Amino acid sequence: MNKANLSVFASGKGSNLLAIHKASLDSDFPGQLKIVICNKFCPAFELAKSLNYETKLISNLDIKNFEIIVHKELIKQKVDLICLAGFLRILSPEFVSKWNNKILNIHPSILPLFPGLKTHEKILSSGSKIHGSTVHIVNEKLDSGKILGQFAFAVKSNNLDLLIDNIKKYENLLYPEVIKKYIWTFLFKKDKFLKYKKFHINNVVFSY
Ligand code: GRF
Repeated sequence: MNKANLSVFASGKGSNLLAIHKASLDSDFPGQLKIVICNKFCPAFELAKSLNYETKLISNLDIKNFEIIVHKELIKQKVDLICLAGFLRILSPEFVSKWNNKILNIHPSILPLFPGLKTHEKILSSGSKIHGSTVHIVNEKLDSGKILGQFAFAVKSNNLDLLIDNIKKYENLLYPEVIKKYIWTFLFKKDKFLKYKKFHINNVVFSY
């Protein structure tokens, strides 16, 4: 099968990177991970190294120079799609427009609610009874591009660590599925994959 070349950008623990890696081992998954980009030394970087991926660690550079290096690496690796997975740097509008509609992000809230940082804390302090995550296309405005997939669940306790663990567990299911659908529909233009999917796991509703 022809596969799209993926790059994951990460700055954190790397659970979504691992989920994308595991999904890509399936011969039906239409993407292959070519390079992992990190802006700081972090568990995701160590994970990528241990999985023998091509990696690029670029810290201590302003965003313009960071993006010049990254862009060259992405072209070298013939990358078709960038997946941000806990990447804690805001990409410039110039970079986003160069990779127009080719950058996805996973954000830990039900967008358009709670864009920006510290979403779990905001959920708990707002008293919101529902939480979840969103996979969206990145545009030049923070957390506001086209929504491709989401899940939602009821918030039953105000334990922050538990909430984060739950979010990640379901993100790790949602993100590879949305990437798969995105590649089939937007990159390979196979309309038969376009229809909406919806399912429940443990009372968590997924829709993408
Ligand atoms: C995820 O919760 C994601 O939604 C957010 O950052 C976190 C990254 O987690 N953007 P991990 O590094 O993939 O474990």
